[in-house]
Amino acid sequence: MCGIVGYIGHREAYPILIKGLHRLEYRGYDSAGCALLGKELTIYKAKGKVSDLEAVYEKSPQPAGEEPTVGIAHTRWATHGAPSERNAHPHLSESGSLTLVHNGIIENYASLREQLQKRGFTFKSDTDTEVLVQLIEYQKQLHQSDLAEAVRSALKLAIGAYAIAVIDKSEPEKLVCARKSSPLAIGIGEDDSEFFIASDASPIAEYTKKIVYLNDEEVAVVVRGKELYVTNLMGDETEADVKEVNVDLSMLDHDGYPHFMLKEIFDQPNVLKDCMRGRIVGDDHNLKVVLSAVTQNRRQLLRARRIVIVSCGTSWHAGLIGKQLIEHFCRIPVEVAYASEFRYSDPVIEPDDVVIAISQSGETADTLAAIQQAKQQGALIYGIVNGVGSSIARESHAGTYIHVGPEIGVASTKAFTGQVVVLTMLSLALGMAKGTVEQEEYEETIKELLLIPEKIEEVLKQNDKIERLSKQFTYARNFLYLGRGYNYPVALEGALKLKEISYIHAEGYPAAEMKHGPIALIDNEMPVVFLTNHHRRYQKVISNLQEVISRHGNILAIINKGDEQVKKMVDSYIEVPETLSCLTPLISVIPLQLLSYHIAVSRGLNVDQPRNLAKSVTVE
Ligand code: F6R
Repeated sequence: MCGIVGYIGHREAYPILIKGLHRLEYRGYDSAGCALLGKELTIYKAKGKVSDLEAVYEKSPQPAGEEPTVGIAHTRWATHGAPSERNAHPHLSESGSLTLVHNGIIENYASLREQLQKRGFTFKSDTDTEVLVQLIEYQKQLHQSDLAEAVRSALKLAIGAYAIAVIDKSEPEKLVCARKSSPLAIGIGEDDSEFFIASDASPIAEYTKKIVYLNDEEVAVVVRGKELYVTNLMGDETEADVKEVNVDLSMLDHDGYPHFMLKEIFDQPNVLKDCMRGRIVGDDHNLKVVLSAVTQNRRQLLRARRIVIVSCGTSWHAGLIGKQLIEHFCRIPVEVAYASEFRYSDPVIEPDDVVIAISQSGETADTLAAIQQAKQQGALIYGIVNGVGSSIARESHAGTYIHVGPEIGVASTKAFTGQVVVLTMLSLALGMAKGTVEQEEYEETIKELLLIPEKIEEVLKQNDKIERLSKQFTYARNFLYLGRGYNYPVALEGALKLKEISYIHAEGYPAAEMKHGPIALIDNEMPVVFLTNHHRRYQKVISNLQEVISRHGNILAIINKGDEQVKKMVDSYIEVPETLSCLTPLISVIPLQLLSYHIAVSRGLNVDQPRNLAKSVTVE
């Protein structure tokens, strides 16, 4: 994780770097730092958030009129070395000439460090990163080379993942950056005279649309006012692929909401329309789903005898829903694997298999490694990704972007519903191509899918009620979420949302499985969120509900609007509009998102930046 930013050009670097760090703070907020290269090289560091770094800078700002126009900056999610000022980036080389920021992990840092120590290098931090800056300096001295060459030589010796930006007092007109397995984007300023470096496009987007995403093992040298020069680690020039990237800047601001998470929950009706736009076509009597990736890869997709979904966290929950959708509409067996387990499980992958990778960021290290492995074994890789131009999107043979706009809140909300909408469209398109879905069900599902945004609006109108309900749970210590069928993964997702932002222990369970163990936990102090809004298994769910009532659990039920039967049985309820069984997750997850949000707020917690977490998990 971690976020890195760099600037070289004609403007004052510091404000650009700080603004960029704020945009990347979702990637980690254990410490922040920046290096400014003017007449002197000055480094500012702070434990904690970017605002703490700003306070440090304010105490000794750069002299007016001499503000540096070159700099690099970093916001950290700690891996090697505790969160502290001494472990904050940028790290300095032995001579104090070079300084570097890094996102990733250098796996062989211990042996490199030992070798460098033998050569007289001293280390001031506990990080793996400091090894890189020392190694670059050592290579520079050893080969009497320039910074770019030294970076290439050092990276040839490093094992692991990196996105780095380095500056050198002795070459002040240059900024060198490189990547392997961690993302890095370079923005080319409008008049080609300034360059912006960042872990994603969000810090760059307001200055330029021209962006180059570095490929693995590429090193870019940007020279102020002159050029961008990209090579591989051998020094051979590679072509910089300049893309035009449009980021909706309004999505990067709170837009009047107290937190990104709440804004993103409320964004859902609109972004889900964006997700379906151009993909559901035709008029009321002739609606169809058209996914270009399905059209282009039709033959291979139809040949699939098995689909494996790989993902992590919330995206894995979307995968569990995807399994039910694909098996129902396409009659293809689907396995859903945690990417982190899949990659080390010696998986059996046949050339006719299709592997679907689901990822909001498109940068999750485990998911990326899982698809790289499946690709080597001959599978077709289909990406369902939000991050446009991200590593997973680029590594996939085919795919469908969810197009829900940047998600900044660490707890994933709109990406989850976007993923489920794409999985629904994919199942319908593939089912139609295979002939495994009846025309009537196909059309009914599409029509109902188109109504989902307004049904979500209806749920969102109950925000005040959910906030009031949430107050009784401020001091809860445990929570149980129960659901069946399509609502079982929603129960898992509701529990995850609560855990990650409110730090309350919560478990999601299939409602009927509860009697095989977890029922022992139920007493009048155990809040149980029950998802009953699933008409196909309604009676079964009611029986499970009775089991909890008999044990005096404190039940909050998510019910279909007007369900008088359940209303009378439970302690509290939230009514949601009815929909088709297969689309219930898109409705029932909304009150759970709001519930966890309000509980976390009432506990006084930082919803957008929960402890120990980061948005983009680019380490394994
Ligand atoms: C939970 C959450 C995480 C992510 C997981 C995968 O709210 O955000 O569990 O879902 O880290 O991330 P992506 O989807 O970016 O691969």
